[in-house]
Amino acid sequence: MNERVTICQIQEKKRRKEKIVVLTAYDYSLATLIDRCGVDIVLVGDSLANVVLGLESTAEVTMAEMLHHAKAVRRAVKRAFLVGDMPFESYQKDPSQAVANAIRFIKEAGCDAVKFEWFDRCLEVVADCARAGIPVMGHVGLTPQTAERMGGFKVQGKSAASAQKILEHALALEKKGVFSLVLECVPAPLAAMITRQIKIPTIGIGAGKDCDGQVLVTHDLLGLFDLFTPKFVKRYAEVAEVMTQGISRFCDDVRKGHFPDKEHSYSMAPEELDQIKEKMW
Ligand code: KIV
Repeated sequence: MNERVTICQIQEKKRRKEKIVVLTAYDYSLATLIDRCGVDIVLVGDSLANVVLGLESTAEVTMAEMLHHAKAVRRAVKRAFLVGDMPFESYQKDPSQAVANAIRFIKEAGCDAVKFEWFDRCLEVVADCARAGIPVMGHVGLTPQTAERMGGFKVQGKSAASAQKILEHALALEKKGVFSLVLECVPAPLAAMITRQIKIPTIGIGAGKDCDGQVLVTHDLLGLFDLFTPKFVKRYAEVAEVMTQGISRFCDDVRKGHFPDKEHSYSMAPEELDQIKEKMW
């Protein structure tokens, strides 16, 4: 149970028809809990921008911020396979810079692989990463970093022509060597078709139940972030409520002088106290 999850084990799960569980993490405490629950892959997602940094778009998060959080998650994750999400503009401009940035996720942050979203030169970058020995998780369908410029946050692949494009992207990425593929916001029947056609595992988010695995943003499923909630999110807990109650009780206790009480304070030997009192008065 405590051995590190490997790419072979993840891919073997597809062959055995065992579902792959993926969650996002951005900090030590939550990553520790997630890892203890036995998830297969932890993704330091660029959703960090929204749920942790309070930015409007995932395109705003920087390499330095992603690496900072990935390092914290690495300290916590002992078992799961750890993937770092490459931020916008860290991989699109020039393939050699993309590989250099991917290496930073592996070497500096200790990630096991990187993920990046589909873009026009992404096959070139996947091939270069493969040559550099860096495992890559692909991401097709809705690509949030560029969604706004591409017509908004909408389900992708609803028409036969756009579905065909997504299928072609998936096949091309598999051929170039990605070890798994995120399918975001695509119709369930299309995701099922892609899952059947490629040998690498598909990880769905808003892509129906037939993907080989599922990923959600942890803050969404725990009810820790509610500025916007996509249709595909299922809430498994109302953590914000529990936290709000705890914080309010603390505020109340401090204001009423109930905290700290004796149990949460340190005492001192009376003779030591007397000595210091003598010196002061
Ligand atoms: O950043 C993210 O959270 C993602 C999703 C696929 C979960 O990329």
